[in-house]
Amino acid sequence: MHFHVLTLFPEMVSQGLSESILGRAAKKGCIELEAVNIRDYTENKHKKVDDYPYGGGAGMLMQAQPVYDACAAVKERIAMRRAEEGTPIPDAADEKGELPRVRVIYVTPQGEVFTQQMAEELAREEDLIFLCGHYEGIDERVLEEVVTDYVSIGDYVLTGGELPAMVMIDAVSRMVPGVLKNEESAETESFQGGLLEYPQYTRPEVWHDRPVPPVLLSGDHSKVEKWRLEQSEERTRQRRPELYEAYSRTDRAVSYLSKDRLSHMDMLEVIRRGQADVIRAEESGVLLHDRPSGAWMLSASDEDMGERLLSEIPREEKELLFLVHQAFLRDSIARRFHRNLVNECIQAVYTRKRPPACAADFMVRPLVPQNVDAVYESYHAVHSRTYLLERIEAGEMFGIDENGRLAAFAGTHAEGSMGMLEVLPDHRRRGMGEALEACLIARQLEKGWVPFCQIFDGNEPSLRLQKKLGLKLASGRLYWIS
Ligand code: ADE
Repeated sequence: MHFHVLTLFPEMVSQGLSESILGRAAKKGCIELEAVNIRDYTENKHKKVDDYPYGGGAGMLMQAQPVYDACAAVKERIAMRRAEEGTPIPDAADEKGELPRVRVIYVTPQGEVFTQQMAEELAREEDLIFLCGHYEGIDERVLEEVVTDYVSIGDYVLTGGELPAMVMIDAVSRMVPGVLKNEESAETESFQGGLLEYPQYTRPEVWHDRPVPPVLLSGDHSKVEKWRLEQSEERTRQRRPELYEAYSRTDRAVSYLSKDRLSHMDMLEVIRRGQADVIRAEESGVLLHDRPSGAWMLSASDEDMGERLLSEIPREEKELLFLVHQAFLRDSIARRFHRNLVNECIQAVYTRKRPPACAADFMVRPLVPQNVDAVYESYHAVHSRTYLLERIEAGEMFGIDENGRLAAFAGTHAEGSMGMLEVLPDHRRRGMGEALEACLIARQLEKGWVPFCQIFDGNEPSLRLQKKLGLKLASGRLYWIS
């Protein structure tokens, strides 16, 4: 993971992050920090980087030119490094076709509040650029041109963006593999699984007349685990009631959805993968909001509950997308939201732990943005070109070439299902589809996920492929409505 910090105080950042765990991680090469002095990029002969705001007002503003040039220089260096490394998943060039697309995070109290979830998401990037403001801020025009994310570390105002950038770099770094000594500790500490950490004790066994809880000395592993979970739950309930409420909603959601696991694997998986908010969970129904796709996912055991769940969805949203598990919900959505573009699907789930053995041996490679039109030709009726490009850029689309041309492709949708599988007519019946899906399954199993896909009603070749690869078909139908 490469961090690049654009700042007027580079030493504050490099010194602040050179000690302890992050210092060690940098020495090991798990993370790399580049603190870039914005002042080095000013065209002003007095090295000035700020000026008075138009329209008057207190303080000075950072000017657009040095910020823009510092950012462009960093992106150029990233492009060169990636070219040297021969990064396997090529990055999309930006609109002008020159620089790699890298997230540029402007740290500002006006941004979205930073969370553990965000840290986990950012840890999946290869490079991150942080832009630290000073004085009264930065000229809006350069922000509009370079910034991809506006992030705050909380509702208070600091004197500059360096400390917030360092806070975020610390939280992101500890999610990068190899940074923490014990890989497990990134997963068990506070906030993971939505609970605060349980209390911990070390020697001596009795201190100030206070003994260590006896269960921890019992040597009984399962009793210790049970006690720790109870402590975590109780601590969260007392200290962070809003976190506890979200945790118990998730618990209720999982128990409703587990009554028919195959049919609900899509909803169970978005919860497991930590990408969904559980909006409502009752004994007879669940409403989730999947963040990556923006989809509202619903299942209800009766129409009454269905109506109640639907009433929680804001009507103002322009591009509503639903995934529902009952036909009555499909009809209610048509009435309520006037949406009736429906795809009826059957869910197939890969329940084994090992990836399927695959007879055919093809070279499967990640798709690059230049492949988008070939993919779009097969999918223009179902997905927009923008969506397909976004999946390619996310590194989630793969293909097989023959004689230098794309012969087959498949990928993972924003909400996590496998799909978009197409073998071009001249290449069918040779196992390319099987090889591609087996590759997607293997990637998901590696992450500890349960792979699943959704097959359009009537797509017999796909149903045959799922059976061949050992996926189990759910009994219920599901409906995508856009
Ligand atoms: N810059 C100043 N205050 C900040 C905050 N709370 N979060 C992020 N950046 C900031």
